[in-house]
Amino acid sequence: MKIKFSIRALIILMAFGMIPYLNFAQNSPPKVIRPGELWPDNNGNHIQAHGGGIIKVKDTYFWYGEERANGLDSNKRYVSCYASKDLTNWTFKGDVVQMTDPDNLGSGWLLERPKVYYNQKTQKYVLYFHMDNKTYKVAKVGIAVSDKPDGNFKYLKSFRPLDHESRDIGQFIDDDGTAYLVFEDRPFGFRIAKLADDYLSIEKEICLIPAHMEGGAIIHYKGLYYAIGSALTGWKANPNKYATATSLAGPWSDFKDIAPAETNTYGSQSTMIIKVVGDKSTTAIFMGDIWKPKTQSDSRYLWMPLEIGEGNLRLPEPKPWELNIKSGEWKYATGQ
Ligand code: GAL
Repeated sequence: MKIKFSIRALIILMAFGMIPYLNFAQNSPPKVIRPGELWPDNNGNHIQAHGGGIIKVKDTYFWYGEERANGLDSNKRYVSCYASKDLTNWTFKGDVVQMTDPDNLGSGWLLERPKVYYNQKTQKYVLYFHMDNKTYKVAKVGIAVSDKPDGNFKYLKSFRPLDHESRDIGQFIDDDGTAYLVFEDRPFGFRIAKLADDYLSIEKEICLIPAHMEGGAIIHYKGLYYAIGSALTGWKANPNKYATATSLAGPWSDFKDIAPAETNTYGSQSTMIIKVVGDKSTTAIFMGDIWKPKTQSDSRYLWMPLEIGEGNLRLPEPKPWELNIKSGEWKYATGQ
């Protein structure tokens, strides 16, 4: 009798004990970044932030990108916003832009590669994006402004930066806080320009790299600037390349592949490099898009820590990995 009771008690205790355990296992936030796989947000939906960019405000990262979910209004263009403290778990904050062709560019007009800057002086969030007609002939940037990181952003204006053609744009904020726009000027190359104090216009050109590069991304790492870009092959992946310089103004080195050429950057295209400075280490994360032109909502992300230093940069073969946001260290995921 005594033994029987204990076994029953044990079973009951175990059952109760198991319930919280099972719940935890189901709801436990992802710890692992899985390049090329579906990336669920807090609602379990695949993150829609393509061709995107990230800023850090206090201890929160905001990821903005092209919202390409199915079933949206085809006359509108959308920019999504996600928030995270660890760059792994993302909370959907909504579509902070839902815009209907503000410049009469016609049906099929484009809003691509949104990038948001936070201006300390004006305390405004300033969104830059590639704005174009459906044949990519207009080649300019649009600007929208918000008081809060999660919108809504109000359309302000559009222009060609310093009167140059501008298609793919990239964002770079240097360690001293200076904000730059990187843009692809088809006839000439890859331009780096400094934003004006209020970020609402371009102050001056810093450099023209005479290389035809899209998806421009820059990082300042241990005294050197590294610029990554892709070739101009539309949605098709190509071998992305990098160059280095001791100053943003150049001179820039020749461009070299960031990954074995035959992998076509493991099927991805650069959009930004994030520098995570922790208390033990600094990790430079390559952010790339794996485009699926026929099913854009299913386009994936390839995020991997770069091997970088002393003028060399290499994108390792993508595998699941984990980031420790506090220490800045990363490791390959085990047993996943
Ligand atoms: C890519 C570019 C994308 C998009 C696409 C259209 O090269 O990086 O942002 O414009 O071409 O074909």
